[in-house]
Amino acid sequence: MKALILVGGFGTRLRPLTLSVPKPLVDFANKPMILHQIEALKAIGVTEVVLAINYQPEVVLNFLKEFEKKLDIKITCSQETEPLGTAGPLALARDKLIDGSGEPFFVLNSDVISEYPLKEMIHFHKGHGGEASIMVTKVDEPSKYGVVVMDETTGKVESFVEKPKIFVGNKINAGIYLLNPSVLDRIELRPTSIEKEVFPNIAAANQLYAMVLPGFWMDFGCCGEEDECESLFM
Ligand code: GDD
Ligand code: MG
Repeated sequence: MKALILVGGFGTRLRPLTLSVPKPLVDFANKPMILHQIEALKAIGVTEVVLAINYQPEVVLNFLKEFEKKLDIKITCSQETEPLGTAGPLALARDKLIDGSGEPFFVLNSDVISEYPLKEMIHFHKGHGGEASIMVTKVDEPSKYGVVVMDETTGKVESFVEKPKIFVGNKINAGIYLLNPSVLDRIELRPTSIEKEVFPNIAAANQLYAMVLPGFWMDFGCCGEEDECESLFM
């Protein structure tokens, strides 16, 4: 099984912290955020993690080299020459993600930390039979996120609204996806947003399902105030 982590972006909202350290390498609970994710992926049988990156790939790759051996997992890089947004990088890494097995693959935003019930997510995904599953969590201020309106019983997503201007619900995209290879046929190789273009289409085709994340979730990219961000790392 494969996974792709969306590492790109410039981490401007975590400056000055990220002037010296790329955002995914910032420590959370004494360990870089990205390592928490890679360890969770390895634990459920992921054999290759593709880092989709458009900024300082060598810094992140060099750091992760020792963990590639320690964790016995392949870590590769898919580098953009221009930022391709949150969907374009999947098209760019298409050949790495499709291995002929027909198995779904994971996609993770690199700036979120949570519990990772990935085994449960695979079970959920196979159970509903749709093309894509996303993990959602409840927040107090949904307007900063992608909001999911779903059928509580089946998990079927009725609509996906990125950064809604008016209240549509408080269950938001937690940045953890499990996607069938067929989802790649919906994505063009150009700068494009999975939240604004791809998820709404999959939802309209009745192929998008959401699972509520049990427990802890935190977004490290969201805070507009630097003071707030810094306090997270004291
Ligand atoms: N490779 C690559 N290239 N990665 C990118 C690019 C790009 O051009 N642009 C963004 N990313 C990565 C970011 O580094 C991050 O890991 C992820 O894609 C999401 O982008 P953000 O810029 O952090 O989006 P956001 O925080 O405003 O919203 C996203 O995350 C929320 C949860 O934290 C959306 O997915 C929301 O729907 C979601 O609720
Ligand atoms: Mg973010």
